[in-house]
Amino acid sequence: MSKKKSPQQFAQQTLPQPWWKETTVYQVYPRSFMDSSGDGIGDLKGIISRLDYLQELGIETIWLSPFYTSPQQDIGYDISHYCDVSPEYGSLEVFDHLLVEVHKRKMKLVLDMVLNHTSIQHPWFREAASGRENPKRNWYVWRDGRKPGGKAPPNNWRSMVGGSGWHYHRETKQWYWTSFLSFQPDLNYRNPEVKQEMFKVLRFWLDRGVDGFRLDIIGAVYEDPYFRDNPFIWKLLPDEENTGFLFRSHRMTQNHPDNFKFARELRRLVDEYSSRSNPSSERVLIGETFGSPEVLRRYCGQEQPDALHLVFLFKTMAVPFSAPAFRKLVEEFEKVFPAPFIPTYVYSNHDRFRRFSVLGKDTRKAKLNSFFQLTVRGVPFIYYGEEIGMCQGRIKPKDTRDAVARHIGTVPAAKIKVLNRLTNGAIQRDGCRTPMQWDSTLQAGFTQPTAEPWLPVNENSTKVNTEAQKERGDSLYACYQQLLELRRLYPALHRGSLELVPKELLPKAVLGYIRSTPEGEQLLMLLNFSRKIQRFSLPVSTSDSEAEVQTLFSTAARSEQKSPFPSPGKLQPYEGLLLIILCPDQGPSASDPA
Ligand code: GLC
Repeated sequence: MSKKKSPQQFAQQTLPQPWWKETTVYQVYPRSFMDSSGDGIGDLKGIISRLDYLQELGIETIWLSPFYTSPQQDIGYDISHYCDVSPEYGSLEVFDHLLVEVHKRKMKLVLDMVLNHTSIQHPWFREAASGRENPKRNWYVWRDGRKPGGKAPPNNWRSMVGGSGWHYHRETKQWYWTSFLSFQPDLNYRNPEVKQEMFKVLRFWLDRGVDGFRLDIIGAVYEDPYFRDNPFIWKLLPDEENTGFLFRSHRMTQNHPDNFKFARELRRLVDEYSSRSNPSSERVLIGETFGSPEVLRRYCGQEQPDALHLVFLFKTMAVPFSAPAFRKLVEEFEKVFPAPFIPTYVYSNHDRFRRFSVLGKDTRKAKLNSFFQLTVRGVPFIYYGEEIGMCQGRIKPKDTRDAVARHIGTVPAAKIKVLNRLTNGAIQRDGCRTPMQWDSTLQAGFTQPTAEPWLPVNENSTKVNTEAQKERGDSLYACYQQLLELRRLYPALHRGSLELVPKELLPKAVLGYIRSTPEGEQLLMLLNFSRKIQRFSLPVSTSDSEAEVQTLFSTAARSEQKSPFPSPGKLQPYEGLLLIILCPDQGPSASDPA
């Protein structure tokens, strides 16, 4: 009898864990994904027509950015009706169809939910603004101003995008608070009516069958109830760990402890929808908020994972592309999010520079980045087009649609460029929202060739598109597809523990980690972050243990596929190499007779 375990045998052994821990999420920005109607704006029917593409790529969960009724001042992050669909995207009927089609493909659908604020055009705000005595007045955060006549804002709180977050309402002579832009008034969650109403909204979509929510700026929901000034901080510009800037922190306006309690309340609500007998029914909550990993962990629970399931850790985006820096990041995430918690790995989204551009449009680096993202212990988030290396679009000032860019519009263009670089694209966000590049035709197959897309299609779409990349075995698309397949096939990749290879055992430019399952499946990942060939000795002993190491996958074209893998071995520039360590049987396995 063979002493070596085959990968397929392992695949049947590990006990299942919640689907959301093992899944791979793909963010669809509805406006830019696929237009079925020819108006130049992506829509839900368009998304339905591309579900097969996502399934073929190997995606398991789709996160949809907002498609609700909205004046679209912040492209849907300003909602005026939470339980309906904006007409340019479709209707509730089309949404239900989309959900059925997603589930038919055994995929999950997670919606973006903006709890923190509504649109200024929401009927609730209109009512609230109609008079101080209006019953909806207290649904938002209103304060009297300082100085005689109340003409100065109530305190020094700034919004996340700069400038005071307080806006004077002339008719009622009070100020309303916005964490983001002036047309996105914050709801007042200290009013129980508001909370109940928003819980109803969540239930509306959960009852329809959605698999969870991505919670927009969830750390801004509760502010300091005493409206104390935000303290001084030694910080000029915001970063992924601390959003304070211009020497003022956000301590009173972000990550207030009441938000952690709120996260637990939300968890209790979604847990009502999961049945113990059907683990697939569990609904997931993914928090978008900013802070150090320690602070963000508090959204998932202190001792127990009893609050949000996942939280974005945007620190990933700020880490230099080097083995020591990535190693440090993994060490930190593993320490702060040990099992049963799980970190997330995200590199691009609709608010930040496209990763491919950040990596200097170098496909080798992009492949290595995806290799890391899809093999490390965590839930990966892929942004539409990331799998084909879509790059940051060049947007002319006249084409600017992003409300943040317009808000900062008075700053000269050159300064905006510098600021945008320093904030990883957070203040001119159109460049990462250009239409998906499906094929080489005019308008890249996103809309009809004669239509004018809402944002211009990238110039490189004739070369960079899904059709072209699907034909090539060495494309970035192919790399994603293969990695996603391996992730599904090998339990060590989607549920295994992670152990870093001691750095003394590898060259400085090489990062190594092992993922393993209790049943003995062991995969070794080696990542060369340099543009030079790196030689190394296998960091596992194969001579006395009879272990054998074989290549499963590489991001580089490997001429020799020697089996077993030789030690010392070689890594190509920017190569990500996945090896399987096959050990002799250590005991009976599920497939062995008892
Ligand atoms: C989040 C969204 C962003 C939006 C903002 C206000 O950061 O990702 O796109 O503009 O919140 O809702």
